[in-house]
Amino acid sequence: MKKTILAFSRITPAMADRLREHYEVIIPSPALGNLNTQFEKALPEAHGLIGAGRKLGSKQLCTAERLEVVSSVSVGYDNYDLGYLTERGIMLTNTPDVLTESTADLAFSLILGSARRIAELDAWTKAGNWTRTLEAAQFGCDVFGKTLGIVGLGNIGSAVARRGRLGFGMNILYSGNTPKPELEHALDARFVPLDELLANADFVCLVVPLNANTRHLIGERELQLMKPSAILVNVSRGPVVDEQALIAALEQGRIRGAGLDVYEREPLSASPLFSLPNALTLPHIGSATDETRLAMADRAVENMIAALEGHRPRDLVNP
Ligand code: DGY
Repeated sequence: MKKTILAFSRITPAMADRLREHYEVIIPSPALGNLNTQFEKALPEAHGLIGAGRKLGSKQLCTAERLEVVSSVSVGYDNYDLGYLTERGIMLTNTPDVLTESTADLAFSLILGSARRIAELDAWTKAGNWTRTLEAAQFGCDVFGKTLGIVGLGNIGSAVARRGRLGFGMNILYSGNTPKPELEHALDARFVPLDELLANADFVCLVVPLNANTRHLIGERELQLMKPSAILVNVSRGPVVDEQALIAALEQGRIRGAGLDVYEREPLSASPLFSLPNALTLPHIGSATDETRLAMADRAVENMIAALEGHRPRDLVNP
């Protein structure tokens, strides 16, 4: 009997076809009613789950008796209960590497977009306001030659640092668990404690995974340490920042601005951030390019097939 795969998001038709060559594939569809109900009904039959952005732990998976693998179409895996999956012998895989450059591009878009107030001035222009010369109060700030502080110099952090150093002549500071001498040499980057980074950077870019150590890493105290002229960029996970503290800092002009791709609750349909001109807000699109989502889908399918065929998947997350 063929094994069954239940897909819960980010599944492309090509991906589904590839999986159907080997397995039964169930894809909940809005045409068939409530997606959660369909997902929950199919769960007891599933040997594999594939998708992204769904919280999966003991509460959600108690009926998934046949489950062997969860193949996440994402690099981050903070929404899965890794301890629980491992205890039950369920493999968890992710899709690292293939989204590094597109996420770094997005981080840089947020740096440039916030510095030059792109979204704000686009809306201003389209509203027909350009009847006179721009006032100094509407000017942005330079990026070239400034100091870029990277919190978390992993793959994506290094790709952001490379753009900053080589493309924009920026001074690179970074903080994290351990210094990375090889990158220090290549990028002229300097390892500093987080507080020193916050006090000196013109742009603070958050690129850390979400875990118990990084939850609310940036709160009121850390925002107070930043320069009033500095911009905070977050492409990691929303809960790395205390969003209420950030909103207060932006409302009071204690920092210049924020470029955000991620939020404490997602999706986010209403927020005080939306009425703040100094907040540039995007809907979690770090990896959302045609090429990257395709590469992520391929990698997730590859991991799924390896796991269900009894091989060690390339991107196994469990210890
Ligand atoms: C990831 O893959 O974790 C990125 O946040 C894109 O969703």
